[in-house]
Amino acid sequence: MNAHAKIAEQFERMKSEEELRSLEAAYCSHGDTVHYTEHPKFFNGCEGSFLFDESDTPFLDLQMWYSAVNFGYRNERLNAAAHRQLDRLPQVASQYLHREKVELATLIAQDAERKFGRKGRVHFNVGGSQAVEDSLKLVRNYTGGKSLMFAFEGGYHGRTLGATAITSSYRYRRRYGHFGERAQFIEFPYHFRGPKGMSKEEYGHYCVQKFARLFESEYNGVWDPKAGKSEYAAFYIEPIQGTGGYVIPPMNFFVELKKVLDEHGILLVVDEIQMGVYRTGKLWSIEHFGVQPDVLVFGKAITNGLNPLSGIWAREEMINPTIFPPGSTHSTFASNPMGTAVALETLKMVEEEDIGTSVMTKGAHFLEGLKELQSRHKIVGEVDGLGLALRMEICQSDSYTPDKATLDWMSDEGMKGDLMVDGQAYGLVLDVGGYHKNVITLAPNLMISHSEIELAIELLDQLLTRAERR
Ligand SMILES: Cc1ncc(COP(=O)(O)O)c(C=O)c1O
Repeated sequence: MNAHAKIAEQFERMKSEEELRSLEAAYCSHGDTVHYTEHPKFFNGCEGSFLFDESDTPFLDLQMWYSAVNFGYRNERLNAAAHRQLDRLPQVASQYLHREKVELATLIAQDAERKFGRKGRVHFNVGGSQAVEDSLKLVRNYTGGKSLMFAFEGGYHGRTLGATAITSSYRYRRRYGHFGERAQFIEFPYHFRGPKGMSKEEYGHYCVQKFARLFESEYNGVWDPKAGKSEYAAFYIEPIQGTGGYVIPPMNFFVELKKVLDEHGILLVVDEIQMGVYRTGKLWSIEHFGVQPDVLVFGKAITNGLNPLSGIWAREEMINPTIFPPGSTHSTFASNPMGTAVALETLKMVEEEDIGTSVMTKGAHFLEGLKELQSRHKIVGEVDGLGLALRMEICQSDSYTPDKATLDWMSDEGMKGDLMVDGQAYGLVLDVGGYHKNVITLAPNLMISHSEIELAIELLDQLLTRAERR
């Protein structure tokens, strides 16, 4: 038997979960997020809003691959687009053109022109962090090499070296030294944990004023009033913080912030990687807030979690071929035909099926259910939502002190698959986020049915009850 046949035979035999676990322990890096939990789960199948384990127990997924699978697992229309592309032109080097790339870029740019009143262009890449890196190049290049950025406390922009420099958590940088200057992190109006006695709008205004103070004189450290120039190139924002705990700022916030940026020649880069593609009921979540980005970064759900595709849209002055010439950035798999084909179909589907309207209706239904749970469970500190980006803070019985341990326990408990509804066992897949890692960041399937929303509320109710009794 040759070596290849030996390995094949070995794998044929090694099917038990126990064997796979011991192989995983020996051969898989633990540097990703799998081992955040003690007993990571194997899944075997998926459909719509559900993942299925080996014994076919349905796990209602309320995080949908961190909001990458916005349109449901194995979405028929999007999978069909992938199959068509697979049969026609699945592979072609990024240096050549294919129809799907051009049509997708055109769709995104023309939509942005209508919404933001500016002509622009699109550049594709593969992962979200890579697109963030591209946006950093664009900003540095356009501003004559300025490398300092503002970003928010609680913000997350990815884990490549450049992206971690503008991501607030020191935890992601701690082991690796500095590769570039880290951003200056600015307070985000996280009202539930903000100073008492201010309305949400007042707190938003307060945060902008605090930021504006940095430009009061040259001695505040970021501004040369004589030259009328800032040391900082751009402000990186997530309109709604994702990993930071689905924190929704007041509606006046970004208009006020943008005014300060415009007065000081600082660019606005909007990271839509998690909240874009209808998570909040609009293609881009920034559309809720009435400001125009200079650069917009997208990824994740644009291909519903099939072939990865990310990208940036930027206004013409920043990305035209004179300033951003051929070869400025490149990745082998950028603008890959499978990804661009599915993304094109995604954007057609959301228009034709008016996904925006249904997301707002379903989001309201879900939020109502969460509020009802909050009224009965003291450990629920706050619930909030915009479209189907929803949050639930798990706290001690004072309904305020963050309780990470209880939420960790709840998410492990959800993975057991023993929650019972009408004689059927279910599991519940939750994502944990937030500044104190005590927030359930709920990103359900945008195609979720109203009866599945009821099921989600029932399963959360059971988990909360178990948590309070433990
Ligand atoms: C807002 C935001 N930016 C950037 C990223 C990084 O994207 P990726 O994980 O595809 O590199 C993420 C991922 O969760 C994100 O939520």
